[in-house]
Amino acid sequence: MTTKDYPRIVVTPPGPKARAIVERDEAWTSSCYIKEYPLVVARGQGAMVEDVDGNRFLDFMAGIAVSSTGYGHPKVVTAVQEAAARFLHICGSDFYYESMAVLAERLAKLAPGSSKKRVFLSNSGTEAVEGAIKLARFSTGRSGLIAFKGAFHGRSLGALSLTSSKVRQRAGFGPLIPDVHHVPFGYCYRCDYGKTFPSCQLHCVSTLEQDLFARHVDPHNVAAIFVEPIQGEGGYIVPPPGYLQAIRDLCDKYGILLVFDEIQSGIGRTGKMFAADHVGVEPDVICVAKGLGSGMPIGAIIAKESVTKWESGAHGSTFGGNPVCCAAALATLDVVESELMANAAKMGSLLLAGMKSLAEKFRVIGDVRGVGLMIGAEFVKNRDTREPASEAVHDLVNRAFARGLLLLSAGKSTLRLAPPLVLDSYDVETGLGIIEDCLRTLNGKQ
Ligand SMILES: Cc1ncc(COP(=O)(O)O)c(C=O)c1O
Repeated sequence: MTTKDYPRIVVTPPGPKARAIVERDEAWTSSCYIKEYPLVVARGQGAMVEDVDGNRFLDFMAGIAVSSTGYGHPKVVTAVQEAAARFLHICGSDFYYESMAVLAERLAKLAPGSSKKRVFLSNSGTEAVEGAIKLARFSTGRSGLIAFKGAFHGRSLGALSLTSSKVRQRAGFGPLIPDVHHVPFGYCYRCDYGKTFPSCQLHCVSTLEQDLFARHVDPHNVAAIFVEPIQGEGGYIVPPPGYLQAIRDLCDKYGILLVFDEIQSGIGRTGKMFAADHVGVEPDVICVAKGLGSGMPIGAIIAKESVTKWESGAHGSTFGGNPVCCAAALATLDVVESELMANAAKMGSLLLAGMKSLAEKFRVIGDVRGVGLMIGAEFVKNRDTREPASEAVHDLVNRAFARGLLLLSAGKSTLRLAPPLVLDSYDVETGLGIIEDCLRTLNGKQ
């Protein structure tokens, strides 16, 4: 294992240069931003982020699961530079260029299942979800939408109507779009029905038919079920085996479209191109974004051709599929397919095993789960009551930042590990070491 020149804390963050920028930012940027902690970035390379005061951090969050190829992968940077030097924009909704056609073909062929697909390119995850809502309604002629508690699908009014992660994200923005129904997710650690897998026989899915469709919602008016194959913002929750297939079967029974939101879980993060590839379920529509452009803003709606019924002019986007972003996405897919998917699987098992062994030492960790480099560790005050230990995660994230490790939380009390897919064994062991040191000092709780 090679030693590297990070993490390296030269001045307690935020240092003087960082503080000045934070102050200026806070004076002028809109009041809605969250700002997890005062990280002020100057540059990055691989899984290392350097701040303006010269502190070097090991990154376990990838700018919220985005910087898939790290901070400035040479192949991605070169592709962006070359595309930028050719032309910056022409509007893919109205004109043609090769990279847009090539990217659409590539995503269509990469998506799970054998049906022919068609691709719409967007600027973001939210815009992909928003378009998928419109496509589902248009294609089925139905208005109903089903989403899951804890889900995050974005913040524009349509996507926000599907989001059910934190009330602050919805409060004050109503009325949201009608005919959206939220149901419990397959969250076995905290089953809403108080049941246990597998004896529950996937009650959380069968109840949709037995309760929701019997009493509240006509399934023949439901356009789509939107689901994250691994719930992201809700707490990195991996549903039980058979769950996604059972939802697929239910959709098939009533002619409902199945939409996978793979905006956080897609593009190699789980060790396969899509989380859906682990379970062999073909959705009707997949939304991707985040890791697709390594940080350049691009998303996509990948839909079965049979679903893509909207006619010319029904939907569009000025910047969606911008040529520079298409170039970034194509280079990202090259790197992810040739190296990083396998690396995510390998480093993911190391990191998961490391977190599981920390859970054996520290009782504050109630559950560890994940696939590839999408790993969650849920913190609890008491393992029997499973009362969420939100403060403990918050505390850990801040301590780790001061020690040179970038972390993030998700859900009520989950530590989310979503590093760049370029992580190596030095990074994994170094990060785990810092997490362990921080857990030792955490409020004397362990
Ligand atoms: C699963 C999922 N869907 C949608 C979104 C929204 O994507 P964006 O922030 O690019 O609009 C996110 C962002 O966190 C996400 O994780």
